[in-house]
Amino acid sequence: MMEPEKIDSAGTKRGCFFGDFVYHRTLMPKPYKLSALEGKVIAIDGPAGSGKSTTARLLAAKLGFTYLDTGAMYRSVALFALRHDVSVDDARALEAIALKVDIGFRMVGDANRVFLNEEDVTEAIRSPEVTKAVSPVSAQAGVRKAMVYRQRQMARKGNVVAEGRDTTSVVFPEADIKIYLDASLETRARRRLIEYSRKGVQTTLEEQLAELTTRDKYDSNRSNSPLTRTRDSMLLDTTDLTIDEQVDRILKLVKARVSSP
Ligand code: DC
Repeated sequence: MMEPEKIDSAGTKRGCFFGDFVYHRTLMPKPYKLSALEGKVIAIDGPAGSGKSTTARLLAAKLGFTYLDTGAMYRSVALFALRHDVSVDDARALEAIALKVDIGFRMVGDANRVFLNEEDVTEAIRSPEVTKAVSPVSAQAGVRKAMVYRQRQMARKGNVVAEGRDTTSVVFPEADIKIYLDASLETRARRRLIEYSRKGVQTTLEEQLAELTTRDKYDSNRSNSPLTRTRDSMLLDTTDLTIDEQVDRILKLVKARVSSP
């Protein structure tokens, strides 16, 4: 029997891979499907900079799953509020925004793009201003309720890799596979520094250490759905791992879990 081919996230063939994966030529760039995973939800939580987004995106591409970036949804609400001069403390106005705006994800080529009222805001939601505003916005109970409802709707058919702060605890408590990613504060700050410098944003390691410390505190101590590691989440410390190694470890965890449930 021929070995299935290994395809990276860009759709490039790179030798063989897990024997359990079936290569679907027509589904490129989502080349693998593990039949035992059909309809399942994989939830990944962890602090900012732990590598959740990149890991979840690559994992979803390898499994042929939809990537649900819940942070992007909170960022979209924060962006809308900033653009319309709505205070990050105005609970009622923020809830109204969260209920009203249209937020969606669409694959454009092999990129998962974020749309706010049909406008592509993929880059705009990553600005330092939005990053600052999103913590208080996401702490609002009304905003969270609206987002959690939408996230469950989006994942109702399964085949989803969801990633955020409360996907293992609140949004998908029944998720089939739960993973908590973590990394040291310094590693996370260095990753953020590289990310910003790629975008041409000037910042320093000290600023990133301070910003992450503030965000960690905010995300972990808020009364609504604080960031927490559930007892049934598998912990993966990514401090000394590359993104490829992270994805590889999770694929192995997923494979082990579905072969011995
Ligand atoms: O993962 P991120 O940096 O894009 O998340 C942006 C913010 O949204 C972050 O401050 C925490 C918040 N968030 C949340 O409260 N719940 C989620 N499920 C995802 C993100």
